[in-house]
Amino acid sequence: MPKRILLTGGAGYIGSHTYVALVEAGHEVVILDNFVNAHRSVGGRLERITGKPVTLVEGDIRNAVTLATLFAEHAFDAVVHFAALKAVGESMARPLDYFDVNVGGLTTLLRAMEAAGCRRIVFSSSATVYGVPDEAPTPETAEFRAMNPYGQTKILGEQMLDWLGQSNPDWAIGILRYFNPAGAHGSALIGEDPRDIPNNLMPFVAKVALGELERISVFGDDYDTPDGTGVRDYIHVEDLARGHVLSLDRLFESGDSHCVNLGTGRGYSVLEVIAAYKRACNRDLPHTIAERRAGDVPVYVASAEKAEEILGFRTEKGLDEMCASSWKWVSNTGAHE
Ligand code: NAD
Ligand code: UFG
Repeated sequence: MPKRILLTGGAGYIGSHTYVALVEAGHEVVILDNFVNAHRSVGGRLERITGKPVTLVEGDIRNAVTLATLFAEHAFDAVVHFAALKAVGESMARPLDYFDVNVGGLTTLLRAMEAAGCRRIVFSSSATVYGVPDEAPTPETAEFRAMNPYGQTKILGEQMLDWLGQSNPDWAIGILRYFNPAGAHGSALIGEDPRDIPNNLMPFVAKVALGELERISVFGDDYDTPDGTGVRDYIHVEDLARGHVLSLDRLFESGDSHCVNLGTGRGYSVLEVIAAYKRACNRDLPHTIAERRAGDVPVYVASAEKAEEILGFRTEKGLDEMCASSWKWVSNTGAHE
C-alpha cells in the first residue's frame, strides 16, 4: 500500500538514495531540507532517476511553523528522519549546534508528529553509539558509549524515542544504526559530495583518485587487526536505502518498534579499501602511513543477524561495487553543481 512519507534531510547523501528507493516502492514522498549540507540541484537529479516530479521543500526541522504547515498539507503516514549534523570533529568544536539540530530538531519534529497524529518514524542512528565496543561483530545489545558530542546526540535521540514509545503504544519507531555507508547510485547522478576536504576514508580516496588531493594518509598501521590498519563494515548506500523501505514496511505491518544495525557483518581494512578503489579507478593511489587519528576505533563491524531476522534485510552489494559506483559518480563531473 502506498504511503505518504516525510523525508527530512532527503537532499543529503543517504536521504537522496532513500528517496529513490521509497518512490520505486510506490510511496509518495515529500523532502524537507535546509540545504546546509546539500545541493539544490539534487531535486532535478532525483526527477531524472525516478521519472517523477519531486516535492522538495526548503526549510528547517527546528521550525515548528514549517512542520505544522507541512503536516496539515500532506497528512503524512510516517517520517523518515535523516536531517542532522554529522561531522565528529566539528561536533567537538561546536557542540551546541549539534545538540540544537540533532536533539532540539528531533524534539520539534516529534511534537509536530504528535500534534498531527502521525506516530511512525524511522530514525538515522549510527554505530557511533557503541563508542569503542567490547566485541566485534557488535550486537544491538552492546552498551551506549558516547565518544564525542555527535555520538551523544544520537544516543539522546534514541533514548528520547524509546521513552516516547513507552509513553504511548501508538508510536511505532524504527531505529537504524548505520555502519559505514559508501558508494553511490548506479546512475551516477547522486552520491556523497563533501564540500570541504573529506574526513571519511572513501570520499578522501575518491578525491585522490580524481587528482584533487595528493595522497591518502593511513591513520595508523599498528592496530590489532590483520594488516594493522582500521577495519570498518562498509555498506553500499543503495543497500542502506533499501533497509529504510523494509523498516517502514515493518512499522506499518506490525505496529511494533525495532532497533537494528545496518551493516554487512564483514569488515575491510583501510589498505583493502585503497586496493579495491585502485581496481575500480585503474589509477595509482599514493598513500603513506600516518599517526593514529585521535578517538579512532580499531574495528567496527555490525552483527547483522537481527536486521535479517526482523526486517528480512540482507546486503547485496560488496566493496568492489561500492568503489566502482563511487568512482562512476565522482568522475561524472557533469552531475555535480
Ligand atoms: P548529509 O549531511 O548528506 O544529510 C543530512 C541532510 O540533512 C543534509 O541534506 C542537510 O542539508 C540536512 N539538514 C541538516 N540540518 C538540517 C535542518 N536543521 N533542517 C533541515 N535539514 C537539515 O548526511 P548523511 O550522510 O546523508 O546522513 C544522514 C543521517 O544519517 C544523519 O542523521 C547522520 O547522522 C546519519 N548517519 C550517517 C552516517 C554516515 O557515515 N554518512 C553514519 C551513521 C549515521
Ligand atoms: N582513515 C584513514 N585515512 C583517512 C580517513 C580515514 O586511514 O583519511 C581510516 C580511519 O582511521 C578508519 C577508517 O579509515 O580506520 C574509516 O574512517 P572513516 O572516517 O571513514 O569512518 P569512521 O568509522 O571513523 O567514522 C564514520 C563516521 C562516524 C560514525 C562511524 C560509524 O564518520 O560518524 O563511521 O558509523 F560513527
